[in-house]
Amino acid sequence: MTRCTLQRVPAPSTPMPKTFFITTAIDYTNSAPHIGHSYEKVLADVIARYHRLKGDKVFFLTGVDQHGQKVQQSAEKQGVPPEQFVAGVTEQFIALWDKLDVRYDAWAATTDPLHKKCVQGMLERLWDEKQIYKDKQAGYYSVRQEQFLTDKERGANGEFGLEWGQVEFREEENYYFKLEQHKQWLLSYIDSRKEAVIPDFRQTELRNAVEKLSGDLCISRPKSRLDWGIELPFDKDFVNYVWFDALTNYISFADYDPKIDKYEKQSQQFLDRWPALQIIGKDILIPAHGIYWLIMLHAISFPDEAMPQLLVHGWWNISGAKISKSAGNVVDPNALADKYSAEALRYYLMSDLATGKDSDFSQERLIERYNSDLANALGNLLNRTLNMLGKYRNQQLKFARSETPTGEGGIFDPFEGFEGSHGLVNLGDERVAKLSNALRAHAGMFGAHLISSGIADVSEYVTSCNQLVDNAAPWKLATDKGKHRDLDAVLYHLTESLRIIAILISPVLPRAAHGIFDQLNWK
Ligand code: MSP
Repeated sequence: MTRCTLQRVPAPSTPMPKTFFITTAIDYTNSAPHIGHSYEKVLADVIARYHRLKGDKVFFLTGVDQHGQKVQQSAEKQGVPPEQFVAGVTEQFIALWDKLDVRYDAWAATTDPLHKKCVQGMLERLWDEKQIYKDKQAGYYSVRQEQFLTDKERGANGEFGLEWGQVEFREEENYYFKLEQHKQWLLSYIDSRKEAVIPDFRQTELRNAVEKLSGDLCISRPKSRLDWGIELPFDKDFVNYVWFDALTNYISFADYDPKIDKYEKQSQQFLDRWPALQIIGKDILIPAHGIYWLIMLHAISFPDEAMPQLLVHGWWNISGAKISKSAGNVVDPNALADKYSAEALRYYLMSDLATGKDSDFSQERLIERYNSDLANALGNLLNRTLNMLGKYRNQQLKFARSETPTGEGGIFDPFEGFEGSHGLVNLGDERVAKLSNALRAHAGMFGAHLISSGIADVSEYVTSCNQLVDNAAPWKLATDKGKHRDLDAVLYHLTESLRIIAILISPVLPRAAHGIFDQLNWK
């Protein structure tokens, strides 16, 4: 007997799939987290979970911004070293993300030695290339706001307003980054790339601001005034001030090496991740991310195709007013999550603020959305389906083969493994169309980061399933032997719909989705 030896055929070499890299703003550790911080992190988490669901490799980076004047002052006020002060606030952020099920892959804390090394390497390089210079500034200085003032800050009477506190004339030497020389490049980059900034009205706002750009960026503070920062590698009497420290986190924690000057020579790990989709609030688009950050990257030779995409969200307000400690209207997300559950809070934040727009925060709305969408619509659908299955079919689902396969999963396929059979027999084309429309709309909206619209599409489908129960009246079908096949089809379709709904909603409500899977006994 001849023996045949099986030889392994080498798999065709497929290019490494690109990682979906998502970042948020790093939260300032001067004070405790509030609802605005939570919105942004949950939004990023939902988008990251959606991509994981699609099968993408995801790298989700978030963290904390720990240096700066205000942190130093707050620490002094409490009589503790700044390290200790930021450690305490950082812990609050970490605990909150844990409570809200925000599942990130890496944590960017700006006091991390790895980050400091990257910031210093980048500054050194720009200094060597003469893109940073030292200059003397003289002018009116607000001690309270820690900044030089220009004539723009004068009121109608020509004086500086009370908001600036004590204003004095000062002369100070500092380091400057040559920002303005990149103005034309930035304009042409914005013009050449559709969706460089989302939504597009923010891209227009940015373009208008760049048109007005003049002057360079002061990047230092003398240590005599501020020492809670990263020391300049070329002058130990100064620390870096704000943006080179905060913004650089997006690359320092993604394995960027500033010593390698050619972009394409960076590590495979970095090239596989970068560029990122960066989620930020509307207040830090101009000038921080839209001008400073893009120019910083361009200045260290990032090609245009490696510029990050900026997803700019609106703000949560309280009765139209900005949330702030001084206004005394800060809403504590911990208390809300404890009272109503993390899922209820996630759902409210994601469904009641259309990505890009502003919204008013209200506990009444949170309760209303929870009751109407989750308890009354989805919860009700689940309960009545399970009850009917118990009552009429002893918990046993009868497989009813569909004549109309509906494998319309969009990018990912929630039907996978079910052979395109969804108990749609006898239910007609309308149900098939409703289900495929919901799937298509969901993929389109979540794919475009329009989470509240994607949620609305799923809600609509849930409503249609509840209507199906009312119209098909399974309790009547159960009494008529000749209609038992229809009864099986309805129950199969409802159960299968619930399974799919749970998959679709799982990025927003991971726990509730798993609860549904468990109740359906679906592994
Ligand atoms: N540390 C800087 C960002 C540096 S990124 C390199 C910062 N921190 S922050 O704590 O003030 O804000 C963090 C994020 O929360 C920002 O994107 C900001 O827009 C967002 N929000 C702060 N208040 C908000 C609301 N009221 N509503 C929604 N998001 C808001 O800025």
